[in-house]
Amino acid sequence: MVASPVIIDCDPGQDDAVALFLAMASPDELDILGITTVAGNVPLELTQRNARMMCDIAGRKDLPVFAGCERPLVRAPITAEYIHGNTGIDGVDVFEPVTPLQDDHAVSFIVETLVDAEPDSITLVPTGPMTNIAAAIGRSPEVVKGIRQIVSMGGAMREGGNRSPSAEFNILVDPHAAEVVYNCGKPIIAMGLDVTHQVLSTRERVARIRDVGNDVADATAGMLSFFHRYDTKKYGSEGAPLHDPCTVAWLLRPDLFATKRCNISVEKDSELTLGHTAVDFWHVTDRPHNVDWAYEVDADGFYDLLVERLARFGS
Ligand code: RIB
Ligand code: CA
Repeated sequence: MVASPVIIDCDPGQDDAVALFLAMASPDELDILGITTVAGNVPLELTQRNARMMCDIAGRKDLPVFAGCERPLVRAPITAEYIHGNTGIDGVDVFEPVTPLQDDHAVSFIVETLVDAEPDSITLVPTGPMTNIAAAIGRSPEVVKGIRQIVSMGGAMREGGNRSPSAEFNILVDPHAAEVVYNCGKPIIAMGLDVTHQVLSTRERVARIRDVGNDVADATAGMLSFFHRYDTKKYGSEGAPLHDPCTVAWLLRPDLFATKRCNISVEKDSELTLGHTAVDFWHVTDRPHNVDWAYEVDADGFYDLLVERLARFGS
């Protein structure tokens, strides 16, 4: 098997961090060309630091990490410290990472990588606001040819919003970027709240992760033990939705997910429903089918995969 080249674009965030660990644990399947970071859960100077910390913890100081856009394309920035804590990754002790920050801007890295790539060869995995990817497409539209597929975390249909009554956070932060990416013409697998809310980090599942007994699993258990507090209180469920790792899990085990081709469109103007993703699941319009919308996941299979991969890291 030849590992598939991927760029992970993220805003760590505890769940982004777990997605990074899952990808780093899977070198046979995924060749991480670079980690690009964006302002989202917390400001850019923290998301880039947090991504580099995860590289240190996972023993991957070799991975190139880039800082990208520090604000959305059009809107003013909004953040989510109330969920992720002021560090963005509360639940692990923060340290200054050894993994260096690359000099290049993330958007330049994305553009240069995609322009030089074979057609349809690179997978993009955005797990935060899609500002960097949209900016790359806006700067050099020819980059689209190099994209094989985009596996994104964002949006919601039946689940409703999480940051507003009708919008999921990543799309609400940058609805203009989401629209650019959703309409780029390449295959998109869209992991929204409808599926991420099915993979809750229950106490039992966090205990399984902690029992793995290596540094990466310990960091994961620590972050999830913090991350679930807000959602547990808000939804009355046990555990938090493990949003971002659903993207990497799909790349590793697409059979765990059910998806349906349909149209997704983004509300960019209404203050009341800004960032809403209108998912035409029942094809009631003639809008083009631009995504594979994930609507079901084998949650136990997801956590079996996560625990098995975390166990691959040395103690
Ligand atoms: O709405 C959930 C998404 O917003 C996740 O990607 C989380 O990390 C935050 O970025
Ligand atoms: Ca995220």
